Amino acid sequence: MAFKTIFALVSLALVASAVPSKKAVCSNGRTASNAVCCKWFDVLDDIQENLFDGGECGEEVHESLRLTFHDAIGFSKTNPHAGGGADGSIMAFSDIETNFHANLGTDDIVDVQRPFAIKHGVSFGDFIQFAGAVGVSNCAGGPRLQFLAGRSNHTFPAQDLTVPEPTDSVTKILQRMGDAGLSPNEVVALLASHSVAAQDHVDPSIHGSPFDSTPSSFDPQVYAEVLLKGVAFPGNGSQVGEVLSPLPGELRLQSDAAIARDPRTACEWQSFVNNHAAMVAKFEAAMAKMSILGHNAHDLVDCSEVIPVPSKAKSNTAVLPAGKTLTDIEASCRTARFPKIPTTPGPETSIAPVPPS
Ligand code: HEM
Ligand SMILES: *[C@@H]1O[C@H](CO)[C@@H](O)[C@H](O)[C@H]1NC(C)=O
Ligand SMILES: *[C@@H]1O[C@H](CO)[C@@H](O)[C@H](O)[C@H]1NC(C)=O
Repeated sequence: MAFKTIFALVSLALVASAVPSKKAVCSNGRTASNAVCCKWFDVLDDIQENLFDGGECGEEVHESLRLTFHDAIGFSKTNPHAGGGADGSIMAFSDIETNFHANLGTDDIVDVQRPFAIKHGVSFGDFIQFAGAVGVSNCAGGPRLQFLAGRSNHTFPAQDLTVPEPTDSVTKILQRMGDAGLSPNEVVALLASHSVAAQDHVDPSIHGSPFDSTPSSFDPQVYAEVLLKGVAFPGNGSQVGEVLSPLPGELRLQSDAAIARDPRTACEWQSFVNNHAAMVAKFEAAMAKMSILGHNAHDLVDCSEVIPVPSKAKSNTAVLPAGKTLTDIEASCRTARFPKIPTTPGPETSIAPVPPS
């Protein structure tokens, strides 16, 4: 055989082995680029129906998104005993971790999620990040988060005090997040999660009081509303970790208020007020990082194709709630003007709580 022919055959074989294996066929005619992703379609079907009430952006979605953070942030670049990051330890050792003060209320969603993870034979770490990614895709204008599968199920409990508290100073929050590998700008981006969020435990007398007026929509409202002048407490007076809020029924966290106004974070915060696209893109990037804390992306398989494509946002910009004007905004960025955003016409309205489901 001529040398040329041998060379041609060898290079053909090399090319063939470099071509990814044929698409795997999964349930209901869906395909995946890697066969290990197939089972996630079945998890998807199950949780959309039986965890998220048929694909809603409700309480379980909010709680599931919060849980991605409380599991993952149990990690430190400097202290190997702090925790294994996004490893499912908050579920495996819920008797320890959900008793940490900052994790108040996470026991509910951990207990609801655990049987799904066990039923599908997936690791707790994978399940928590998957449920958060699927859940937030149900929110109008939501992100389409990356999902990498393959986190080990073998974990150890995270130490207390890895999760920031609303009473922490901005310096303390940025230090803790930085110690886990997340920059101040990434913290601001991650707080887009508070656009689809409510509280039960800061003021338990007003269950489900949201942080902005559109808690089922992943939009920049939260970045605008947290900058409005605070005028009253929505529930049973002043609570620990709470500051004056701008609207009846809405609760403002002390930490959100401080991060929105701090010179280190105010300009990034304000930049999202009229830029939903940037808010989503930067949230996706920061979540991609946070969701694999403690892991190496090269050890995981990209199953992002399983995450649903969210509906489009109604608008790229926040609006001033009815009854407010630009003079109510406590603009805190020194290098850029607060954007001119439209005002909702009519009288001020009260913000409805997120219903329990
Ligand atoms: C940086 C510091 C942060 C602080 C101090 C903080 C604090 C809080 C507090 C106190 C609550 C209310 C919990 C309750 O009373 O039920 C809450 C809710 C929530 N947080 Fe954060 N958070 C922070 C960052 C994050 C991050 C990074 C994420 C996710 C990426 C996140 C997602 C959520 C969600 C989705 C909720 C709503 C839960 C629900 O509606 O049930 N938070 N946060
Ligand atoms: C992961 O560990 C828990 C115990 O912490 C166990 O119940 C579960 O079945 C394990 N899952 C897998 C996939 O090994
Ligand atoms: C209101 O707060 C007070 C003290 O802060 C507390 O004693 C009382 O139980 C609270 N009421 C409700 C309904 O939560």
